[in-house]
Amino acid sequence: MDRTPPSPPPTGRIRRNRDADWNAWPVDDYLAENYRRLHPCDIGVIRHHAAVYRRFPPGSLARTLELGAGPNLYPLMLAGAASRRIDAVEPSAASVRYLREQLDHGIDDSWRPFYALCRSLDPALPAEYAEALRRVRVVRGTADDLAPGAYDLASMNFVAESVTEDFGEFTAVCDAFVRAVRPGGTLLAAFMERMPSYRIGTGPVWPACPVDETALRAVFVPRTTGLRVTRLAKDRTLPEYGDTGVLLLTAERPGTPAPPVQG
Ligand SMILES: C[S@@+](CC[C@H](N)C(=O)[O-])C[C@H]1O[C@@H](n2cnc3c(N)ncnc32)[C@H](O)[C@@H]1O
Repeated sequence: MDRTPPSPPPTGRIRRNRDADWNAWPVDDYLAENYRRLHPCDIGVIRHHAAVYRRFPPGSLARTLELGAGPNLYPLMLAGAASRRIDAVEPSAASVRYLREQLDHGIDDSWRPFYALCRSLDPALPAEYAEALRRVRVVRGTADDLAPGAYDLASMNFVAESVTEDFGEFTAVCDAFVRAVRPGGTLLAAFMERMPSYRIGTGPVWPACPVDETALRAVFVPRTTGLRVTRLAKDRTLPEYGDTGVLLLTAERPGTPAPPVQG
């Protein structure tokens, strides 16, 4: 495992989202570094997110979003009690292939402890993981493709800050994320704290935008109500990505809560 802190981009030029080849995302190395076993930060994120989903009766959310799903199955599992349909929106051909394979042919055994933890924290989840994941639809796309107001709840884990070095573009991804939910809809997100551009394994440097709680508040306070930001300590069982921890966010899109969309 490469524990060398990530190097800055070779040219010194700000790298934007379109400058990285997301189709070539190194799924196997990413899973090996982050998700082949439960790390303390996964437990922290799952605890935080499960507490949000527990607020909703089973099946009460018609349609929810996982933006930039990547090959991470646990946010999709967590949504499987409250949500009747989960759209996993993801631009990378490699991650879309992995997700579809897991959904169609059964999950890797390494995901089972994740589901057991999700279910222990949200007993409304079905006994079988396959039943929870049956509600997931994989959609190839980016934040730019989201239709405003289409979702009752949107979730985004390690995406806006991990896909560009441009703070303006980080803000635009967060803006699309907020607008994707209906007025009164719920927002749920996790961000690497202060993470610079990073490597997975020995592959290329991926563009990132270091953000802290102040930066999150600057972006989300004008766009949301009920903003809550909490922090997990840096997880030293993960490779050295140069971060200082994880920031967890919940908020609502302002506006009168509309009844959930049917269908
Ligand atoms: C660091 S990974 C996080 C993956 C996953 N959400 C997780 O929890 O591990 C960033 C993800 O964002 C996706 N991504 C890149 N550009 C994006 C964009 N413009 N809109 C939405 N997702 C994007 C990448 O393909 C990748 O899957």
